[in-house]
Amino acid sequence: MKLLLIGPPGVGKGTQAKFLIEKFNIPQISTGDMLRENVREKTKLGNEAKTCMDSGKLVPDEIILNMIKNRLNKRDCENGYVLDGFPRTIPQAQGLDILLLNLKQKIDHVIIMKIDDSLIIERLSNRRSCENCNKIYNLIYNPPLIKNKCNDCHGSLYLRDDDKPNTIQKRLNVYHEQTEPLIDYYSKQNINQEINAQGSIEEIKNTMLNSITK
Ligand code: AP5
Repeated sequence: MKLLLIGPPGVGKGTQAKFLIEKFNIPQISTGDMLRENVREKTKLGNEAKTCMDSGKLVPDEIILNMIKNRLNKRDCENGYVLDGFPRTIPQAQGLDILLLNLKQKIDHVIIMKIDDSLIIERLSNRRSCENCNKIYNLIYNPPLIKNKCNDCHGSLYLRDDDKPNTIQKRLNVYHEQTEPLIDYYSKQNINQEINAQGSIEEIKNTMLNSITK
């Protein structure tokens, strides 16, 4: 099963990706997580990406496409994957089409997650992520059992640098300008499915699984 998850910052891509990888036993490929790991390890790529990420801008397409090319060539991707947060621009989608052609692969579903902008700031300013295993929490909707500790691995939880209200607004603007045109791009290929992401985590999980497996 090869899936793309597309949607604005904070819509719940990472949250739902965790259910999908469990259900289909495939890896999650999150360009955001990969970039943050590079930033933490202070690699050359991480240093280049950090300025863009902190200001809510997109990292250049060339860097992202190289990263994805390396990742999709790994053996654990042979049976499928969930691409979370990639592609985000038309050139990235075109680059992915070429990669897939070379790998003789096809995307099964492009899931477009939709939500009102007004709900995003609340979701993101209350998000906490585990610094160890990347598990996602929300202080209101999905709090950890012990304050600031991951339920699964007991790693510490942190607030992302780009989850400040000003930066969230910039990320939303970037989404509308640069990523939303992908909806039209994929609707022309007839593999897109739109999901209303304004419900509980459980409701959205069920809607998503139903639309993929029907
Ligand atoms: P990235 O890490 O991909 O961030 P994003 O797309 O902005 O998405 P988020 O991770 O913020 O949100 P999400 O949709 O995964 O929501 P989540 O499940 O966490 O990218 C970060 C940056 O890296 C970018 O700004 C860019 O600079 C760079 N980058 C990454 N990929 C790139 C690319 N391809 N090209 C160029 N640059 C790239 O949920 C959010 C919160 O809501 C959580 O607290 C969660 O618990 C809660 N929640 C989830 N679902 C629900 C629900 N149904 N009800 C209530 N709360 C919910």
